[in-house]
Amino acid sequence: MSKEIVKGKALKHGTQTRTMHWIHLITFILLGFTGIGFHWSGNGINNLFGGGANASLVHVWTGVIFTLGPTLYILLNFDRFARFIDTITTFTRNDMAWFKVLGGYVPFIKMKVRPPQDKYNAGQKVLGWLVIIGCFLMIFTGFEMWLGRHTVSAAFLNTCYAIHFWTGMVLIIMIAGHFYLAAINSKSRGEFASMMIDGYVDAASSAEHNSKWFSELRKEA
Ligand code: HEM
Ligand code: HEM
Repeated sequence: MSKEIVKGKALKHGTQTRTMHWIHLITFILLGFTGIGFHWSGNGINNLFGGGANASLVHVWTGVIFTLGPTLYILLNFDRFARFIDTITTFTRNDMAWFKVLGGYVPFIKMKVRPPQDKYNAGQKVLGWLVIIGCFLMIFTGFEMWLGRHTVSAAFLNTCYAIHFWTGMVLIIMIAGHFYLAAINSKSRGEFASMMIDGYVDAASSAEHNSKWFSELRKEA
């Protein structure tokens, strides 16, 4: 049996993955919070940072950490990142079957048997891509708005502002849904500790929720 399955527990997310996720989580909250403070000024958020200029400095330098965190992770863990991309890009009949019953998470849609899932279920695969595309857009437009504001055209800068704002709002709503499923909903929060605490999931639950990935883990003797 794989060394990653020990005493009824399976290692799902290693230390570097968890650290990167924590960095992204903290910086995302700070960016969303200060960003909302800029857009709806007068709500008092800027004052918490000692005024608009300071809040702006906090936003852009948090944006630098938000960018460097995953970049460093990808450079140090290229194989793991390539496997993640491979997993979230592969959609099979089982994933389509998962979408039909929405993973059994919606009360009025009945699921007789859980369609076998990879390390990430079909919904998480979609979320993975939306996060990657959304973060790329935020980083690209954010740096243009910060460092390129005096060199790019006014029309381009306005487009960057619009993309930055609307993508930010979509990401905030999506991450609120991700938070609900990962931390609150009793049917789906079984993986919470694997990303937020020690990296491990309960092997029996993983054998049910991520059966394709779990059987591969078991084969790696
Ligand atoms: C997902 C992460 C992020 C969120 C949710 C976010 C959110 C926002 C929001 C809502 C605004 C206000 C836009 C408006 O008034 O229409 C804003 C402004 C801005 N953002 Fe972001 N942002 C993020 C990442 C970044 C990054 C990575 C950078 C680059 C360093 C950046 C740089 C800026 C700049 C330069 C502004 C203009 C306001 C200013 O600081 O003067 N943002 N952001
Ligand atoms: C708000 C608090 C958050 C909590 C409680 C949370 C929790 C989790 C958990 C438990 C997992 C592992 C799921 C599994 O192994 O099946 C996970 C995965 C993931 N998280 Fe978060 N997360 C949060 C915020 C974020 C943020 C801010 C981002 C990015 C902007 C993010 C991006 C991801 C991605 C891409 C994955 C892997 C694929 C997926 O599950 O869709 N998370 N998160």
